[in-house]
Amino acid sequence: MATSDKGLVGIPLRAKLSAKYKNSFAYPTIKDRCPVILCKIIDHLYRERLSIGKVYGMEAQEGLKKIIDLLSGLRYEMQTNKEIKPLSDGRKCCQIWNDYLNDEKNKGEGTTWFSASWMWSECYLYRRILESMSIVHELRDFDFFRHQKEEGFRDSLLSMEQLGEWLLQILPGEYPSCSVETQSLFNTLLQISLWGNKCDLSISAGSKQSATGNTLDQLQSLVDRILVDQSSLAWSSLEVSNQTVDIVMDNAGYELFTDLCLADFIISCNKATKVRFRLKNQPWFVSDTTRQDFDWTINNLCGENENSALSKLGARWKSYLTNGMWEVLVDSFWTYPHVYSELQQVDPQLYSGLAEAKLVIFKGDLNYRKLVGDINWETTIDFKICLQGFLPTNILSLRTLKADVVSGLENGQAEKLTSQDKDWMINGNWGLIQFAQA
Ligand code: F6P
Ligand code: MG
Repeated sequence: MATSDKGLVGIPLRAKLSAKYKNSFAYPTIKDRCPVILCKIIDHLYRERLSIGKVYGMEAQEGLKKIIDLLSGLRYEMQTNKEIKPLSDGRKCCQIWNDYLNDEKNKGEGTTWFSASWMWSECYLYRRILESMSIVHELRDFDFFRHQKEEGFRDSLLSMEQLGEWLLQILPGEYPSCSVETQSLFNTLLQISLWGNKCDLSISAGSKQSATGNTLDQLQSLVDRILVDQSSLAWSSLEVSNQTVDIVMDNAGYELFTDLCLADFIISCNKATKVRFRLKNQPWFVSDTTRQDFDWTINNLCGENENSALSKLGARWKSYLTNGMWEVLVDSFWTYPHVYSELQQVDPQLYSGLAEAKLVIFKGDLNYRKLVGDINWETTIDFKICLQGFLPTNILSLRTLKADVVSGLENGQAEKLTSQDKDWMINGNWGLIQFAQA
């Protein structure tokens, strides 16, 4: 439970969250949710060994046994609170991870699964899964979450079609980019993209999560669930046209579709001449979008029934990608253990890249945790203070709450929310639209 002035009860104010605090969501994450995610991968690899063998060859099929052993060992390490180990799969970022481990050791911080910072241990899990896959050359880039992401996409097709039809109706509108009507549509698209973030597969430990029903009908009833809404500040930051907006993406499936709708609107109402999508370079937190997922999604939209809104949007979005109005960028920093106040030092090039944009939209819960440092803040603290100097340009966060980290609330709001819904910080039913001006 979080309080306005002291943050989470029983955890030192402004401490980094860690599974060593049983009161934090970090604890059940490392204890239960992560092992379940691992079990599901093991199960999937075992069940699909023959079909994997057909595609990747006999050696890969044989190699799966070793991978499964490694993943079972990883689960054991996690559940028995072993030391975090150096990585050795020869990928470029090994050094980054091993330096991080050494730094934590030198600082006297916890370096076991339950004593380490939550951000580090949870990110490290996904990196270790990748390391296990690396022992079989053919499976080095195998996406062990792809089937779940594709299922999430297919299960949301009806909601996507409804949203797509609406988008196609409003897009060609003659809205001057500064009109009240355009601003109101912008706010609607921000909310659609915000609630799209409910559909991630990591909070449910990989169980089905898809959109159902008509999102637009649902928006009105969700308005009171937006705890902070600074949409108008984001709108004002886009006063001038001929500029770039970046979106640091989160989940594939329905959320990705909502993000593409938002990006299209930003271009169509002349708020930007370019939108850059920033994606993960490896399978991450189950449902996060990789380049492959992005391309697969656009191609599958194009392949829908030719009269459907989805195929029209697919073709439209493909043309944005071809003519350079949309660009896809894959950066390795997003899958490092670092929080964003460390970005400039660790990846100065990426920091300058972000600074070229007029606005960077950060999608989702994990991005929010990284923005605010995954710290036990008092819930009333200013969002901008929590960024701890990370402000390459204007920042907008669209996030449903799925971790017990929050900022920018009013005094007494956290307590009121707890009496209304004891799981408000972690159940994904509450949202934030938070802005920080550079
Ligand atoms: O497991 C940690 C966590 O950050 C959760 O809090 C959240 O459910 C999930 O991972 C990722 O959420 P998102 O896809 O919104 O970043
Ligand atoms: Mg995610």
